[in-house]
Amino acid sequence: MALVQNKDHFVSASGILRYSYKDVQKATQNFTTILGQGSFGPVYKATLPSGEAVAVKVLASNSKQGEREFQTEVSVLGRLHHRNLVNLVGYCVDKGQHMLIYEFMSNGSLENLLHGQEEQILSWEERLQIALDISHGIEYLHEGAVPPIIHRDLKSANILLDRSMRAKVADFGLSKEEVFDGRNSGLKGTYGYIDPVYMSTNKFTMKSDIYSFGIIIFELITAIHPQQNLMQYINLAGMSPTGIDEILDKELVGECSLEEVRGLASIAHRCLHKLPRKRPSIGEVSQAILKSKQRHLVKIDTMSFAGRDISRAVSRIEDQQLELSKMASLKERVAD
Ligand SMILES: Nc1ncnc2c1ncn2[C@@H]1O[C@H](COP(=O)(O)OP(=O)(O)OP(=O)(O)O)[C@@H](O)[C@H]1O
Ligand SMILES: [Mg+2]
Repeated sequence: MALVQNKDHFVSASGILRYSYKDVQKATQNFTTILGQGSFGPVYKATLPSGEAVAVKVLASNSKQGEREFQTEVSVLGRLHHRNLVNLVGYCVDKGQHMLIYEFMSNGSLENLLHGQEEQILSWEERLQIALDISHGIEYLHEGAVPPIIHRDLKSANILLDRSMRAKVADFGLSKEEVFDGRNSGLKGTYGYIDPVYMSTNKFTMKSDIYSFGIIIFELITAIHPQQNLMQYINLAGMSPTGIDEILDKELVGECSLEEVRGLASIAHRCLHKLPRKRPSIGEVSQAILKSKQRHLVKIDTMSFAGRDISRAVSRIEDQQLELSKMASLKERVAD
């Protein structure tokens, strides 16, 4: 692939490649396969000459961002690498277009998996792992990146899953135009996930990301879409310690431990605290989820251990019975 000469060494230093419009046109087969449409514009599937599958996000051409500003943003994003972040592999700024090229995530978005048409049920183990993966991605942004990055638009549509169902956070660090969704004007973020404190103060902090993550955890537990009154259900459930049982995703009823569900719900509740300073940091959240997962694994292990014990006992009884019947027939023969 003919690479456009890099005008900006700063960008090439971050290790991501700049492609020409023609390159992208070829890789997307002239923009044929659309993966989805977001607030920035459409996202297309593409294949790089190396054979690598990628997703090309075409940013709206009316973007106010200049080329220089875009390149600076890209160079910052290109430096961020973590297994729970969707990797930026390249970009294109050509013919008045701005595009970002990301690794392709074959299992699509969490939003689609939880609320889409396809019949794919996520198990409790998978949901626990997804929550943990997301927390690690956010932990890297908040506590690992220099300078720290606030995501500002955490939602299930921005959580993507790879072929082995590992979750990665997408769209971090993008300067997004203010959204108008009929309810809130002048706010960045997505209705249903926005911290009410941010709505009243207009100040976005890491704790606003924590709030959005709390909503995502409840979305994982209940499979209720945050734009479909999830918050009302959460408030109702919060009125009793076992309230969450009532709104657990019906696909999970009888398939997981309610104790574990309540544990995860209590972590999520803390993330939604109305006072941001009372919300946990992302490090605390990921520690708490990790503990939940470890308890889950220990339980599974002891259960299968108990299972092994029972089956051993059963086979021992069977052996004894065989022994007894042999003795009985021997006795009969002796008596004869
Ligand atoms: N790297 C990727 N791999 C596979 N599919 C992707 C990738 N990036 C995006 N998509 C798909 O494209 C859809 C649209 O993504 P996009 O980020 O543009 O919009 P969004 O996440 O719905 O909203 P927002 O613009 O607020 O981020 C996603 O929901 C997802 O299904
Ligand atoms: Mg997105």
